Amino acid sequence: MTNNGLFISFEGIDGAGKSTHISALAQTFEAQGRVVTLTREPGGTPLAEKLRALVLSDAMDAMTEALLVFAARRDHLQQLIEPALARGEVVLCDRFTDATFAYQGGGRGFDLKTLSYLERLVQTVQGLAVDFIRQPDLTIWFELAPSVAAIRLAGSRVPDKFESQPLDFFTRVSAGYLQRCDAQPQRFARINADQPRDRVWGEVKRAVQQRGWLG
Ligand code: TYD
Repeated sequence: MTNNGLFISFEGIDGAGKSTHISALAQTFEAQGRVVTLTREPGGTPLAEKLRALVLSDAMDAMTEALLVFAARRDHLQQLIEPALARGEVVLCDRFTDATFAYQGGGRGFDLKTLSYLERLVQTVQGLAVDFIRQPDLTIWFELAPSVAAIRLAGSRVPDKFESQPLDFFTRVSAGYLQRCDAQPQRFARINADQPRDRVWGEVKRAVQQRGWLG
């Protein structure tokens, strides 16, 4: 945390049902007088939204995809996330770097060492005393079996490039998330998304309360 700014990211495979909980958490923080910046990746700034449109629709190799999402992330951090955190705001971000490790790393099979290098390069914040790598203070991972997510997604809208991937792609994406969660368990709240919505919401709220960030 910086100046009491709070950075929370939300992750999960397509269809895991993040959106309603992100809005509910924003309202909960606002009701307690916090200023909330709601944002998403890829995206969040005019430039990053242009890159998002390319990443979600155009065919490209895994390295190009990784470079574009990290370029979008760099702009997002510089223009929106870091300034909001410096003002002490709560930043709620629909996906962040764990999605790159899960989708480009797990799903596409792109080299994890290169992703780690890019993560360090893009997310290093020059501090007064020491530099540090910006990471979410908390990552809420909505965990759902790919077969269940596929049923939820079916017929809901025209699928984008990722949503139209086969089941085994999402099995690899899930494994990618698990690897990130296992590597930094204290940063993650792992939530079973295969429950009624109010139960999931209860767990989201509890994860934030347990850290002392909500009354
Ligand atoms: P998503 O967050 O699911 O938004 P929507 O609900 O509007 O579809 O879509 C973003 C997609 O981009 C999702 O399929 C995951 C993918 N993605 C990556 O492949 N790499 C990344 O680094 C990020 C942030 C997202």
